Amino acid sequence: MEEQKKVHVMLVTFAAQGLINPMLELAKILTSKGLWVTFASTEKAGERMRKATNTPATDKFLQFRYFSDGWGLDADRSNLDGYMNQINLVGPKSLTQLIQNLASQGDPISFIIGNPFLSWVLDVAEELKIPYAMLWTQPYAVFAIYYRYFSGLNLLPPVLSDADIITDITGLPTLRVGELPTYLLPSNPYINLSEALSKTFKKLKKVTWILVNSFIDLEREAIEKIPDVPPVKLVGPLVRNCGSNLRGDLWRSADCLEWLDVQSPSTVVYISFGSWVVRSEKQMEEVAWGLLRSKRPFLWVAKPPENATGLWGLPEGFLEETVGQGKVVDWCPQVEVLSHPSIACFITHCGWNSTLESIVAGVPVVVFPDRGDQTTNAKLLVEVYRTGVGLRTDPSGLLRKEEIERGINEAIGGPRAMEFKENALKWKFAAREAVSDGGTSAQNIQAFVDDLLLLL
Ligand code: UDX
Repeated sequence: MEEQKKVHVMLVTFAAQGLINPMLELAKILTSKGLWVTFASTEKAGERMRKATNTPATDKFLQFRYFSDGWGLDADRSNLDGYMNQINLVGPKSLTQLIQNLASQGDPISFIIGNPFLSWVLDVAEELKIPYAMLWTQPYAVFAIYYRYFSGLNLLPPVLSDADIITDITGLPTLRVGELPTYLLPSNPYINLSEALSKTFKKLKKVTWILVNSFIDLEREAIEKIPDVPPVKLVGPLVRNCGSNLRGDLWRSADCLEWLDVQSPSTVVYISFGSWVVRSEKQMEEVAWGLLRSKRPFLWVAKPPENATGLWGLPEGFLEETVGQGKVVDWCPQVEVLSHPSIACFITHCGWNSTLESIVAGVPVVVFPDRGDQTTNAKLLVEVYRTGVGLRTDPSGLLRKEEIERGINEAIGGPRAMEFKENALKWKFAAREAVSDGGTSAQNIQAFVDDLLLLL
């Protein structure tokens, strides 16, 4: 054990919840194998994690270290493009300094694992002659779509509109334009994110390992149909165990488990749009009245935008009208919520962590994606994993209350409700199998660790 501490792995992550969570789970697995791990993110992320969940400075073989993004802790980071520009400019120097400081304290880094949205971490690793692996935090299928797109294997039509053109770039079930990852589309407003992805894919040959937060059984079809991507290893699902108190939430959870405890089994609709998506007030109003119309108990995470506090977008009178029916919070312990016996279905924005967490908990879904990989993840949930219901927006893009009510009723009590639950349970057991001793993901992790130990 003592010997293995000489391999010191640094995990570097962008300060977004959807990227912090799987990276932290990977950190826990690596330390459980006796490796010494430094989890690194920005100083602002560190401050928020400490405030929200008392994230410690060290936990056995795991230490948390933070680097500057060049802005003070109170600066406004709500403009993503501005923030990406800033961290791309300052991050390489700050991270290099952190790595050099560790080395000068007798704690040198022997391996770095980064994620796709900070493409410069690979440059830092290269400069310092430290081998690098990437943790891909979306499905393998989405990795393959990007890979084939950026390497020119499947070009999209030269004049790509967001209209519903049928296109088939993957060999997966035919994807309409609206089901591709939105960062490939002309309407994508997050140019810095698509640029980061493009840079990452252009440098892929320099990456020694590509670890994917997914598991083979879940993506067998994609893996078989899209074989010509570089060697990737599926090591997921990287989802926190309910019992684990070591967490990296950026927001403090509201109390809601006691409320769930007094609800009847398999009755509650859980609804959350993740850490980043903010729906318009008009959309929130439709969601609110859809929940009311369903007459079912609900737990709704109405998270406010960055820089705001309290509950977001609830129409006037909603809380009063739903007293006794539901509970609204600004953040919750989602993994615990999804595994609670009272939960019947999950209305999700289909972030990949939420998708995997629904699978791990065996909970049927109603899909309501917004951006990035979420549109493709929604397609996978409804048409490949078959654990739930898709919804139709109106021509203006608004999801109406009647449609939300329909989705809830179909997922819980419709003719296919039993099929959704059976499929959800099938994936739950497959996920458990993948990470248990001898499972595909457990074996892939072990192969990765064995490779790291060769660095000794
Ligand atoms: C982002 C992207 O939007 C997503 O598409 C990509 O796959 C990962 O990065 P995000 O939108 O935040 O993530 O969604 P998701 O991937 O679902 O991650 C959110 C995380 O926050 C989940 O692990 C979820 O459990 C957690 N969460 C969310 C809470 O702990 N409490 C909440 O109230 C809401």
